[in-house]
Amino acid sequence: MNFPLELLSFLRKAQRVAALTGAGVSQESGLSTFRDAQVGLWAQYRPEDLATPEAFARDPKLVWDWYALRREKARAAQPNPGHFALAEMEKRVPDFTLISQNVDGLHRRAGSVNVLELHGNLQRVKCSACGEQAAGWDESGPDVPSCPRCGGLFRPDVVWFGESLPRKELEAAIQAARTCDAFFSIGTSGLVQPAASLAYAAREQGALVVEINAEPTPLTETVDFFLPGKSGEILPALVKALW
Ligand code: OAD
Repeated sequence: MNFPLELLSFLRKAQRVAALTGAGVSQESGLSTFRDAQVGLWAQYRPEDLATPEAFARDPKLVWDWYALRREKARAAQPNPGHFALAEMEKRVPDFTLISQNVDGLHRRAGSVNVLELHGNLQRVKCSACGEQAAGWDESGPDVPSCPRCGGLFRPDVVWFGESLPRKELEAAIQAARTCDAFFSIGTSGLVQPAASLAYAAREQGALVVEINAEPTPLTETVDFFLPGKSGEILPALVKALW
């Protein structure tokens, strides 16, 4: 794979790099992206319709089961070469921040350490009433498990549409975008705010912006380099070309 020489020489010198990832990065691990056509059991639901507080209030069991299925799939999935390449980048770049919209935990499993999970993590649950995070929960019964402290229903500790992102993570992500030399947008459609605005914040302060995606997105025409294709192929090749 050939990369533009200006890109390689810039990245070799970069001191601060931030990368934003989306569901496309985990596609090669066998996990569905959000805006792919859904198949099978959940074909009749749009993920966006299940990822809201209103959906949970209406039918908690439906939402719980959908997340339980995703949790199982994420557990069974393995990080792919794209995840490993990002973990390698963190070792090579003096200041590297990985910002992910993914809730599957695959970046950490691939060895990334400095990861900001903007949309939470599927493997955690919290009480929908008191907000207490749960260390464990009983999934043996037919009902949605409930909080031993207040009796409220447990829900996945992920960010739903209409909810705020975790403040500390969002602030750190904005700070990384505002101070980086280079910003990567990888495997994300760039349609969901506020994550989508990070690339623009980086561009505004003069960072080099690089996009890796299977197809063009609304961001594409503004970036310095668009590398079309699969992140599981491009990222390892880029790391190899760089170091
Ligand atoms: P999307 O499903 O919107 O976008 C996935 C992107 O990855 C698309 O632009 C695909 O072209 C691209 N893609 C697919 N396979 C790829 C591959 N192997 N390599 C590179 N690119 C690939 O997913 P996100 O952008 O992550 O939010 O979605 C953002 C948010 O919307 C999610 O975090 C979730 C969702 O609703 C919440 O649940 C709050």
